[in-house]
Amino acid sequence: MVCESANMSDLKFQNLKINGTKKFKGEIKVSGAKNSSLVLLAASLLASEEVNLANVPQLTDIEKMKHILTTLGAELSNDGDKLIIKSNKLHICELPYGLVNGLRASFFCIGALLTKLGEATLALPGGCKIGKRPIEEHIKGLKALGANIEIKDGLVTARINNPKKKLKGARITLNCPSVGATETLVMAACLAEGTTTIENAAREPEVQDLCCMLNKMGAKIFGAGQSKIIIEGVKILNGCSHKVIPDRIEAGTFLIAAAATKSNITVSPVVPHHLDAVIEKLKECGSKLEIKGNAISISTKSIKAVSVETSPFPGFPTDLQAPFTALMSIAQGKSTISETIFENRMSHIESLNQMGASIKVKNNIALIEGVKNLNGQFLTAHDLRSAAAIVIAALSAEGISHIKGLEHLDRGYEDFECKLNNIGADVIREFKQVNQLDLNSSESNKKDYQAA
Ligand code: UD1
Repeated sequence: MVCESANMSDLKFQNLKINGTKKFKGEIKVSGAKNSSLVLLAASLLASEEVNLANVPQLTDIEKMKHILTTLGAELSNDGDKLIIKSNKLHICELPYGLVNGLRASFFCIGALLTKLGEATLALPGGCKIGKRPIEEHIKGLKALGANIEIKDGLVTARINNPKKKLKGARITLNCPSVGATETLVMAACLAEGTTTIENAAREPEVQDLCCMLNKMGAKIFGAGQSKIIIEGVKILNGCSHKVIPDRIEAGTFLIAAAATKSNITVSPVVPHHLDAVIEKLKECGSKLEIKGNAISISTKSIKAVSVETSPFPGFPTDLQAPFTALMSIAQGKSTISETIFENRMSHIESLNQMGASIKVKNNIALIEGVKNLNGQFLTAHDLRSAAAIVIAALSAEGISHIKGLEHLDRGYEDFECKLNNIGADVIREFKQVNQLDLNSSESNKKDYQAA
């Protein structure tokens, strides 16, 4: 089922009205992983035949990536969560700022365009709300594979200058296990001549999913999920059918929401070991978790404060830092949450404090003193995962919250409020503009407001 929200164009004028403290019961169906789908779409550009993807979530980020692929000359057709991509008529090797700026993951296309067309020009993606997000590891690796790269006036131009128009296998050691750089280089190395070794590679499940799909297409990639990935170049990549892995971040968000509302729910399908670090922390908090096949059930009676430090997989994911901070804001005791991956991923703290939380931030570490309860407020989300954190806080809070900034939420959560309402939440998406004055003019922040 697709929410009405997914079809509404101007997300900036939409808000969620959440009536908190409801208890949830039931099952959540987890969608396909956003981050896998994005890179798999880029990888489908490498195929000489049709790629059939299943379990692709309907999200605004995915829509943008689909638009980028068609701009490059690919033909796409979809039916629900299934997507067919034909890239044999790829002819455009340029992505202008407007497209790259709308979606950082579009930079993934550089490796595929370079190997397929011998040339790629993409606008430099630049920083975003959660940090500077440099790309020097992508560039350094592509250069090692023999690409000629020029960065000028905000444009990255990559060319293969040898007569065969082929990249050459190389040994690459990443300075940090960047997910994006690992994925870009794996894609670029598949059709290169000879063997490529990537040391200090990212081990995230989405990297593994990419390698799995590329191997189905005929690539020879060994060691996905480990720090050393070896790619033996092949001459051609064929078509394939592939099912996107479940979204571990979406599943983790719902588990954390269940803990914050002391509810009993089951999330499935999941690959439980993708969530090991999260499961461990939730158990430390006092939740009971049970794994049965591809399902995880959680029940929570009380919430104990525990500290968390984000780190690359298999560590605690940075994408669940904000939701977990929302949970810790109502835990018994003090905790610290350290964000070690991105330098500006604490925008949810202001909203949580506005709701009555007691959190100080120092050098990317949130120092939290748990409070008994939060209160509903008028709130604005500034990035995807902070939006999820604010929703979780509002679900657990006394009274009504109104949340703006849904353009961020809808980038990464499919049918979010529908899934929550199915298990007993009271969340309404309102298609009208509201502002703080409306809220102040109402009897109290906990009560409803008049829409502008
Ligand atoms: C991906 C995910 C994002 C997730 C992140 C970390 C996608 C579309 N997005 O982002 O949701 O939060 O992994 O798990 O898959 N870095 C450098 N130089 C580089 C590249 C990265 O210093 O050239 C640094 C970044 O600044 C950051 C860290 O490495 O501090 C991790 O970034 P990276 O793993 O590249 O994240 P993304 O691939 O952008």
